[in-house]
Amino acid sequence: MPVITCIDDLKRLHRRRTPRMFYDYAESGSWTEQTFRENTSDFSRIRLRQRVAVDMSDRSLASEMIGQPVTMPVALAPVGLTGMQNADGEIKAARAAERFGVPFTLSTMSICSIEDVAEHTRKPFWFQLYTMKDEDYVRRLIQRAKDAKCSALVITLDLQLLGQRHKDLKNGLSAPPKLTASTLADLATKWAWGLEMLGTKRRGFGNIVGHVKGVSDTSQLGAWTAEQFDPRLDWKKIAEIKEMWGGPVILKGILDVEDAKKAAEVGADAIVVSNHGGRQLDGALSSIRMLDPILQAVGDRVEVHFDSGIRSGQDALKAIAMGAKGTYIGRAWVHGLGAMGEEGVTTALEVIRKEMDMTMALCGKRDIRDVGRDILLVPEGFSGNWQ
Ligand SMILES: Cc1cc2nc3c(=O)[nH]c(=O)nc-3n(C[C@H](O)[C@H](O)[C@H](O)COP(=O)(O)O)c2cc1C
Repeated sequence: MPVITCIDDLKRLHRRRTPRMFYDYAESGSWTEQTFRENTSDFSRIRLRQRVAVDMSDRSLASEMIGQPVTMPVALAPVGLTGMQNADGEIKAARAAERFGVPFTLSTMSICSIEDVAEHTRKPFWFQLYTMKDEDYVRRLIQRAKDAKCSALVITLDLQLLGQRHKDLKNGLSAPPKLTASTLADLATKWAWGLEMLGTKRRGFGNIVGHVKGVSDTSQLGAWTAEQFDPRLDWKKIAEIKEMWGGPVILKGILDVEDAKKAAEVGADAIVVSNHGGRQLDGALSSIRMLDPILQAVGDRVEVHFDSGIRSGQDALKAIAMGAKGTYIGRAWVHGLGAMGEEGVTTALEVIRKEMDMTMALCGKRDIRDVGRDILLVPEGFSGNWQ
């Protein structure tokens, strides 16, 4: 067993063990990937303030996200197709998150269904909703999430159209993979993945297949999803969905001050400052650059969460120090899952926790709830003066 010391180690194993089309699906951004790259590189521009001679014993990362207790303010972001990174991937990740004491968010585009995940976990998880043109289907999906006792609805707002990732088109991404000469050659070197996948029945989009009229097998699904995401989603519809759900709502994909204000007006319990990990609007600013302006505008009215670009506990701590109440990791947990299944997700969370805890201590803090801007050194003009 290799020694895992950082998320990059998990990423290397993920690449080695998972078919190329799924690794590439995770590890890419849209078009030129500028935003994808800057999400991570902008974190390294923020530095930390070293403090000494302060009591660093008895530290705590325990906090709350939307009033729910978390052992550290790092949730698992919704990620589609994770049951293709590793057999039954969503169930494994949800169990790892549950044991760790952090929220797991199940994507609409998951392989394991809402009911599957609920059956294999004990605590409520969060459900992420993509709005579809088929309103009847959306209504039933929300009801299914309620029946499964999901404790928050995360509505993703930045994917009404799918950003183009070149590699997905070139690789012919599909779930399950179509057996062409090149996928077969790739699969020949990923036999452990293949054996596990043969051992599960969950190989299609569990929240969709069998729940939508006319979609009974996955071969029709690519066309269905491309057609079905609702390009007319607006604030009125968001308010209607919120009403329909009746519980805590998190609006994900906010990257602009004006949109943040609207999200606060609509009464969201939290917003996620996010650019979908650089997978949607290439050329948008990195998420960490937009965090401060959004906090300044709405931080006193709505709980502000953050994602996109977190690859370490230091990154997560920087976002918290800037003022976010919670953070989400996407690729960081997917690398863990692709590398080593459930154990890999736990390892990813442990890596993040250790880095966060040590960094907090070396910045002279013992409790995450006391961490603020004073531990950061942010270069002048970091958020920029963009006109
Ligand atoms: C492979 C992949 C699939 C994703 N699928 C979804 C999804 O189904 N729903 C959603 O709201 N966000 C999805 N996202 C975005 C993540 O929720 C999150 O915003 C992003 O991964 C954060 O960036 P990071 O990967 O740099 O941490 C996906 C991200 C990745 C990498």
